[in-house]
Amino acid sequence: MSGNSFGQAFRVTTAGESHGPGNVVVIDGCPAGIPLTVEDLLVDLGRRKPGQSHIVTQRNEADEPEILAGVFEGETTGTSIAILVRNQDQKSRDYDAIKDKYRPGHADFTFDQKYGRRDYRGGGRSSARETVARVAAGVVAKKVLERGFGGRVVGYVKQVGDIVAQVDDPSAVTLAQVEKLPDGGPNIVRCPDHACVPRMIELIETLRKDQDSIGGVSELVATGVPAGLGEPVFDKLKADLAKALFSLPAVLGVEYGVGFGCATLRGSENNDAFFAEGAGAARRVQTRTNRHGGMLGGISSGMPIVLRAAIKPTSSLPREQETVTTSSEPTTIRTRGRHDPCLLPRFVPMGEAMVALVLADHWLRWCAQKYAFPR
Ligand SMILES: Cc1cc2nc3c(=O)[nH]c(=O)nc-3n(C[C@H](O)[C@H](O)[C@H](O)COP(=O)(O)O)c2cc1C
Repeated sequence: MSGNSFGQAFRVTTAGESHGPGNVVVIDGCPAGIPLTVEDLLVDLGRRKPGQSHIVTQRNEADEPEILAGVFEGETTGTSIAILVRNQDQKSRDYDAIKDKYRPGHADFTFDQKYGRRDYRGGGRSSARETVARVAAGVVAKKVLERGFGGRVVGYVKQVGDIVAQVDDPSAVTLAQVEKLPDGGPNIVRCPDHACVPRMIELIETLRKDQDSIGGVSELVATGVPAGLGEPVFDKLKADLAKALFSLPAVLGVEYGVGFGCATLRGSENNDAFFAEGAGAARRVQTRTNRHGGMLGGISSGMPIVLRAAIKPTSSLPREQETVTTSSEPTTIRTRGRHDPCLLPRFVPMGEAMVALVLADHWLRWCAQKYAFPR
């Protein structure tokens, strides 16, 4: 009822807040025999980590996960997996001065309306800190996809403010391209169009100096996904992916394929023509274009799944903003503490994790149906 669990066959449950002792995830339904170590988890946790570059928050969390259950001799056992990531660098005193004020753009007001109380230190359960647990679960889900059908999920920054990356073939973008620049240096914005990177960094730095923040768009691509994942009505793959992405903080829009662009297209322009390639059992139906974003009727078509999430500019600003107190008196607020001037670079592994969780869940559900009465 309270929405702390997600998925059916591959089910994750998280608990934890930004300024509590830590965040934990329990993963239920992961098949046995998948190699899993702390080092595996560290890769995506490192991509999500605060303090990873000068354009993200300077909060300094080690984010070292502890695998508490479900792994024996380096492999999953098939029983529930529990992973704990302790919080380390909370500066709760940063929040003392604003505990009786509602931060614009945050969940302070709505939490008070819902629960009549809240942990005012850094957003509590609504903080992006909570996503550390999901990113850990996403690593396990990515392994299920890779092992199950050679599937892969890669996300990247498509847009910061009005700077839009040119990505001709989203399915060809590699993790290396997202993480590294051609000279081997870190790609701190995670934009695969390297020509855009310096301009994006400059914009983020300018906004930070101006005591402001900026939004953008992240594109998320799943490749190798077989046709047939997803249920035809309420649990459409597109519906579950939308819920997964909208469940992340700061996501204000989700689209797939041609997305909102479909509004101005004619049917003849929008349809993707089918064709078949190969012979015998290897004959495969594909589409010439992928405006449908890899899903038809909410079921995967076998073409790459291409989604985009619009991320709002960070709400916490050091500049003065108008607000009210918890007793409805007008006041102003400056949010001190350490905040990302642009959420996009750290959003990427979070978006990937949520896409991987949905695909792992639907793949296991598909296996359950397919192998019960094989044809
Ligand atoms: C990667 C990431 C980091 C975030 N860090 C901050 C932050 O430093 N300061 C802030 O004001 N909001 C931050 N947020 C956004 C807030 O958590 C979010 O806007 C807030 O909880 C309200 O939820 P909503 O935007 O989904 O309505 C972050 C979001 C993401 C995805």
